Amino acid sequence: MSAGVAPAGAAPRLEASGGSPVPSTPAGCLVTFEGIDGAGKSSHIGRLAERWQARGLQVERTREPGGTPLAEALRELVLQQPMDALTEALLIFAARRDHLCQRIEPALATGAVVLCDRFTDASFAYQGAGRGFDLDLLSTLERWVQQGPAGLRQPDLTIWFDLDPAIAARRLAAARAPDRFEQQDEAFFHRVRAGYAARCAAEPARFLRIDAGQSLDQVGADLDAALAARGW
Ligand SMILES: Nc1ncnc2c1ncn2[C@@H]1O[C@H](COP(=O)(O)OP(=O)(O)O)[C@@H](O)[C@H]1O
Ligand SMILES: [Mg+2]
Repeated sequence: MSAGVAPAGAAPRLEASGGSPVPSTPAGCLVTFEGIDGAGKSSHIGRLAERWQARGLQVERTREPGGTPLAEALRELVLQQPMDALTEALLIFAARRDHLCQRIEPALATGAVVLCDRFTDASFAYQGAGRGFDLDLLSTLERWVQQGPAGLRQPDLTIWFDLDPAIAARRLAAARAPDRFEQQDEAFFHRVRAGYAARCAAEPARFLRIDAGQSLDQVGADLDAALAARGW
């Protein structure tokens, strides 16, 4: 997919993301980081980016919604403005399309490993499970937005930091002022967690679940061990 790619109006070609062989290095791979707010995504992306850069890999670190000027502008709206669930889902997928075309696909084409803080699993977990938005419509948007010349773009690996929402709330209370999502009650985050669990169960080969309720060092050690087991 490039900035000049034709709109995904044709019948989408679906590819099973979990069935492809695991590459022996993360070069040219899309690695996404998922989990509820406070789970430790930002902490571990930074650590992993440094580790892989030190190994000589080209690392592109980015986030969703966001990652391009247009998508960052949409992020501001989505995180701060009240809006209905469909508007929210459309804006997030619009931001994702721009991000894929302008940044992720070009970076992958040069052999970079792209580390992305949240991706489409977050749409299914937050908009779908959290807000109760129609999962079929999310799947349709996923096919439209992630369709490229090589098929449907999916992460090569998704690292899910799984955390009890009560622990996450305690961490966040000490860390930062909440945005529109972080202000949701604990029940919302229990639904989001269940949404991630469902995605993980549906695609176990793509997902790596990490117990994020442990100390920062232990979470990092578990992550390193799991990546080493893949040869990464
Ligand atoms: N395993 C952990 N134990 C204790 N605190 C943690 C742990 N992981 C992250 N934190 C802290 O929790 C807060 C949220 O972490 P962060 O990495 O920003 O999470 P996320 O990006 O998933 O929202 C930060 O203050 C961070 O230092
Ligand atoms: Mg973060």
